[in-house]
Amino acid sequence: MSLRILMNGCCGYMGRCIAAMCKNNPKIDLVCGVDISDNTEGLDFPVFSEASAVDVDFDVIVDFSHFSCIPKIVEFAVSRKKPIVCCTTGLTEEHLKLLDDASKEIPVFKSANMSLGINVMIALCRKMTNLLYPDYDIEIVEAHHNRKLDAPSGTALMIADAIKDEIDNEVNYVYDRQSVRRKREKTDIGISSIRGGNIVGEHEVMYIGGEEILKISHSAQTRDVFARGALAAARFVFGKEPGYYDMTDMIQL
Ligand SMILES: NC(=O)c1ccc[n+]([C@@H]2O[C@H](COP(=O)([O-])OP(=O)(O)OC[C@H]3O[C@@H](n4cnc5c(N)ncnc54)[C@H](O)[C@@H]3O)[C@@H](O)[C@H]2O)c1
Repeated sequence: MSLRILMNGCCGYMGRCIAAMCKNNPKIDLVCGVDISDNTEGLDFPVFSEASAVDVDFDVIVDFSHFSCIPKIVEFAVSRKKPIVCCTTGLTEEHLKLLDDASKEIPVFKSANMSLGINVMIALCRKMTNLLYPDYDIEIVEAHHNRKLDAPSGTALMIADAIKDEIDNEVNYVYDRQSVRRKREKTDIGISSIRGGNIVGEHEVMYIGGEEILKISHSAQTRDVFARGALAAARFVFGKEPGYYDMTDMIQL
């Protein structure tokens, strides 16, 4: 039997990308969507304006929407006892707590970046940080399309958090530097954002030494890479015990 997906944010760029991918995959069926937008043109499944109205059976919720709808969709997932794959970025501490609480009752899979490549890059950054910090200064630069709402990207924060995790002493994130009128501190991790056009997602981490610079970068070529990862995550969480899962649980790094 195919896996039945409820797509939250189905009218958006990622929702439509997932819908197109499901059409070509006989093992996954996008059975319904939820979106506040009425632009449902081209979508061949029922779309509900809110989750509580859903009257279609489904197995897993995939969410690429807006951070403001996290409380409702998480409450809905818990009420239906269904796993949720949360891919939306820009989440606050409050949202993260809601997801954490929900994970005691349902499987919750969360990742700010669903691509295999970025998760391999993060594993390599952990290693590079151990080898190079504090002798090398660490700076992260990200670039995205001009419609993106949050800055820095959830992925840049995910990379920074992994790097921070490898450093024993205090570390401070310094965003875009224009408001910081002081020389660079060893404890800084700089995070800079660029927005423009239709850039899918670019992330670069620089390890800057006195005599050499190492750069590791990831460039998403199409949104399909995130859609593929999200659908793999949906298959992964289906049937799992309640708990909090991420890409490191799904791919062996
Ligand atoms: N984790 C990843 O790998 C990854 C990859 C790409 C994008 N994202 C994130 O996914 C989210 C969506 O990205 P996108 O490019 O598809 O954006 P988008 O703006 O094209 O689509 C978002 C959709 O969510 C809908 N929406 C807004 N509020 C809603 C609500 N209350 N209930 C239901 N639907 C609602 C909008 O109407 C829209 O159709 C963003 O937060 C983005 O940063 C994550």
